Amino acid sequence: MKFFVDTANVEQIRQAKAWGLCDGVTTNPTLVAREGRDFREVIEEICSIVDGPVSAEAVTTEADSILAEARELSSWAPNIVVKIPLIPEGIKAVRMCAQEGIKTNVTLCFSPLQALIAAKAGASYISPFVGRLDDISHQGMELVHQILQIYQNYGFQTEVIVASVRNPLHVVEAAMMGAHIATVPFDVLAKFFNHPLTDVGLKRFLADWEKLQQEIKSS
Ligand code: G3P
Repeated sequence: MKFFVDTANVEQIRQAKAWGLCDGVTTNPTLVAREGRDFREVIEEICSIVDGPVSAEAVTTEADSILAEARELSSWAPNIVVKIPLIPEGIKAVRMCAQEGIKTNVTLCFSPLQALIAAKAGASYISPFVGRLDDISHQGMELVHQILQIYQNYGFQTEVIVASVRNPLHVVEAAMMGAHIATVPFDVLAKFFNHPLTDVGLKRFLADWEKLQQEIKSS
């Protein structure tokens, strides 16, 4: 399973990379705005850090203008994936991008049929937003299950990015279902390590080692 980091913050990306938990990055206009930096500059910096796909979002809503933005964005770095919203004009643009070999991540997916039409258009990735569905009392992870089943039924190559992840349990469920990728906010990623028994156990080991008054020296 691949972990993408859902952030435009380069410090967070560097830390996640050091942990070996950054197979890619996803951004969106909200995450970029949070950094207050020049869009191209921050995307190019992220692309230079990450050995994997980096999603940068198109911000127009007509197929031709989305395609123009996709061509521009994908010229910035070889690992750019263009994020395109799941609207009719967006799906038209995804089809055109696929014909040109531009990789796409179809975003704002909230239903299995939306995911099916994205795959039929040749999307490289689909991003179901599980947390936002949970927020309105729908089972976000059930959508992921449906998409994986549909894609498997027909052999689509589109990879499923579980997005709008709000807690580590979303990631556990995604892994149990065999989702290809989870894109995870940094604060949630950092929680992957946590277990109170790890902390208690380490404290005890270190206290016992201290009693020995020894060092591990290089020979
Ligand atoms: O990047 C898209 C997605 O992960 C957004 O998450 O928390 O704003 O619903 P959220």
